[in-house]
Amino acid sequence: MTRAVCPGSFDPVTHGHLDVIERTAELFDEVVVAVGANMSKSALFTPAERVAMLQEGCAAWPGVSVSLFSGLLVDFCRERQIPVISKGLRQGDVDYELSMAQMNRRLSGVDTIFVPTSPQWSYVSSSLVREIATLGGDISPFLSARVAEQTRERVVQKGVTF
Ligand code: PNS
Repeated sequence: MTRAVCPGSFDPVTHGHLDVIERTAELFDEVVVAVGANMSKSALFTPAERVAMLQEGCAAWPGVSVSLFSGLLVDFCRERQIPVISKGLRQGDVDYELSMAQMNRRLSGVDTIFVPTSPQWSYVSSSLVREIATLGGDISPFLSARVAEQTRERVVQKGVTF
């Protein structure tokens, strides 16, 4: 049984994230999507909301489950006996992602594989989506209809400004 973890903030989950999770699920028997709970207070959605969004987005993939984690990702991997971290990689991500991958391996022996982001989502990020939503732009191409609606509602509720 091969297992991998797909970690992230997912604030909110985009088509780019789901593409990486789906492609990881094609490579491993079991995939745990790990939603980081120890993020900054400026997150748009609560950890529980982000888990619910991902559960909906991943519902069609039988080997995929979603969990919350806090603390070090490698401790989560160790507790669950998951030997591989799978992360999507966009053009500008290399320096940051490589440092994290090397640090995680140094800390624990858990290795990281990178899934190149599909070209149609390579410029999409949750932070850009939040900014566009806040400024009244169209975020519908990048998110499921339901997550897009929740995002629009939340930026209005929170009165988020850039
Ligand atoms: O969506 P992101 O920003 O790519 O997610 C980053 C995340 C949550 C995967 C990363 O920040 C993380 O692993 N946080 C947990 C704390 C941790 O293990 N830090 C040490 C990293 S070497």
